[in-house]
Amino acid sequence: MIDLKDIRKAFDGREVLKGITTSMEPGKTNLIIGASGSGKSVMMKCMVGLLRPDSGSIHYDGRDFLGLQHKELREIRREIGMLFQGSALFDSSTVQENIEFPLKMFTKMTPAERLDRVNFCLEQVHMEGINSKFPAEISGGMKKRVGIARAIAMDIKYLFCDEPNSGLDPVTSRVIDELLMEITQEFQVTTIINTHDMKTVFDIGDKIVFIYEGQKWWEGKKEEVRQSGNPELQAFINASYFG
Ligand SMILES: Nc1ncnc2c1ncn2[C@@H]1O[C@H](COP(=O)(O)OP(=O)(O)OP(=O)(O)O)[C@@H](O)[C@H]1O
Ligand SMILES: [Mg+2]
Repeated sequence: MIDLKDIRKAFDGREVLKGITTSMEPGKTNLIIGASGSGKSVMMKCMVGLLRPDSGSIHYDGRDFLGLQHKELREIRREIGMLFQGSALFDSSTVQENIEFPLKMFTKMTPAERLDRVNFCLEQVHMEGINSKFPAEISGGMKKRVGIARAIAMDIKYLFCDEPNSGLDPVTSRVIDELLMEITQEFQVTTIINTHDMKTVFDIGDKIVFIYEGQKWWEGKKEEVRQSGNPELQAFINASYFG
């Protein structure tokens, strides 16, 4: 469980997160939805430590993320996997080297152990045998899968994905959604996904958090979304389908 309490963040005096309190459920897909510019990416960056909130608290299974010292912070960092907007693979490294990267950084595994782990992760995303390919040689959907394989290379507890479907066609988007759901359930990770893809929401969303102008405007289960009675959420959903 990740608990956020009253998270605030301003840039140049303009507050973009206005006191967000919510939680990310373990073993579930937690979907953060909202219009472009509402603050989803900033919220995610605060959660993983890429940005420091101006105030508020973030607890990772009871551990005070913003108050921790270097060593304990490193411990949580190794439990976090991230899939960035775009695939953000290293272009001059092979698929294998890309997936190995966190293993080299955080573990003392031998090359043989790393190879085993890389192959295991490639199996998880149904991409066996592409170890020696370079990112330029594979499709956008395959890059996303390699990004997921890299994100789960460490034995992670928390998986963050910022717009995992951006730039993908609808069929490939569904494949990525399925993979994220499978991984969440199989490894019981706390998965957080930023998206404005309503198909993703209704296909794989366990918990939905709707961000509106830097505030948590609504949260609940996907089954409750349509009957939320929340005008802004309703407008957001309608715009997603017809806009
Ligand atoms: N480093 C930064 N410096 C200044 N302003 C920023 C910075 N990062 C984000 N912002 C601003 O914060 C607001 C929220 O941005 P954010 O990227 O979180 O939106 P988003 O909900 O992720 O949008 P999208 O759906 O387009 O990805 C925007 O107005 C953005 O311009
Ligand atoms: Mg964003």
